Amino acid sequence: MDFSEKTVVVIGGTSGINRGIAEAFAASGAKLAVASRSQEKVDDTVAALKAAGAQDAIGVAFDVRDPEAVAEGLKQFYDAFGDFDVLVSGAAGNFPALAAEMSVNAFKTVIDIDLMGTIHVMKGAYPFLKRPGASIINISAPQSYLPYEGQAHVCAAKAGVDQITRTLSMEWGVEGIRVNSVVPGFIEGTEGAKRLAPTPDAGEALRKDVPLGRWGQPQDVANACMFLSSDLASYISGTVLAVDGALYQRGSGKFGQMMGQMLRAQAKARS
Ligand code: HXC
Ligand code: NAP
Repeated sequence: MDFSEKTVVVIGGTSGINRGIAEAFAASGAKLAVASRSQEKVDDTVAALKAAGAQDAIGVAFDVRDPEAVAEGLKQFYDAFGDFDVLVSGAAGNFPALAAEMSVNAFKTVIDIDLMGTIHVMKGAYPFLKRPGASIINISAPQSYLPYEGQAHVCAAKAGVDQITRTLSMEWGVEGIRVNSVVPGFIEGTEGAKRLAPTPDAGEALRKDVPLGRWGQPQDVANACMFLSSDLASYISGTVLAVDGALYQRGSGKFGQMMGQMLRAQAKARS
């Protein structure tokens, strides 16, 4: 894949899967722009992207819950690099919690980051997207289509993200903008994986369930994003593409149930 001369913006691109995506585009020669809340993480990532081969790399700190800050940050990227060829929107927050135990603000926090954040990022970027030709990728999760105990907030948010993908693939498709979602499977060493499978035993139980027999790596997800943003995918829009080693063909199954049992035991111990 050659993305030289292309501008790639990755929101939430300063750690884990999204940083892996940014680094893969950097290694393919693109100009990279990244954002997240922490200026320190942004600075560290910008340096790493330059070292990985980016034509250039810049970053700003903002919170995707603040639409004005998002629009301002994206304008800075446009002023520096011009039209966006690729926009990856992947900022997210997650914690396991039973709905009955969660405060109103806890539920709302995940909706605000994952769902509202996605629309703020897409609308903030809209004036700056290359027409025709831009590729938008929203980073979703299996929770979008599989129910998990302890994940009502994330399930609601990510289902909304994928419906935004489908709807805007039509609204913006007429301008030559493609919109797709990528659903990572269980990706080794990431914050999301640590939060949902906090012990080595839980992680190993999950890995054994993956039909392809291994954890996912950030590079697996990055490969899908590069494919979807390349000319090879120029007729693909409105899809939700799972990159999960077929794990989630098995449904939420044992893992979803295990999480519910663990959270109920914790709640009982507290009461
Ligand atoms: C119950 C919790 C909680 C928990 C926070 N809250 N953690 N409730 N159980 N474990 C509640 C707080 O009490 C508060 O409600 C509200 O949520 C907001 O919490 P804050 O700490 O004030 O929010 P904030 O500082 O904005 O941080 C957001 C966050 C945090 C989501 C809570 O964890 C975060 O910044 N996460 C980003 C990193 C992350 O989560 N990465 C993993 C993404 S993986 P009250 O009522 O007290 O005010 C993913 C899917 C993975 O998205 C899928 C894998 C298969
Ligand atoms: P991660 O390392 O925690 O990455 C989250 C990124 O988003 C970080 O750069 C974080 O940086 C940023 N972020 C969080 N809240 C933000 C906010 N309010 N405003 C701006 N930026 C914010 O998590 P990850 O596990 O790699 O997950 C990355 C994506 O993949 C998420 O969309 C997640 O839902 C999805 N996913 C992950 C897995 C998995 O196995 N890990 C599986 C399925 C789906 P700051 O802290 O600096 O803000």
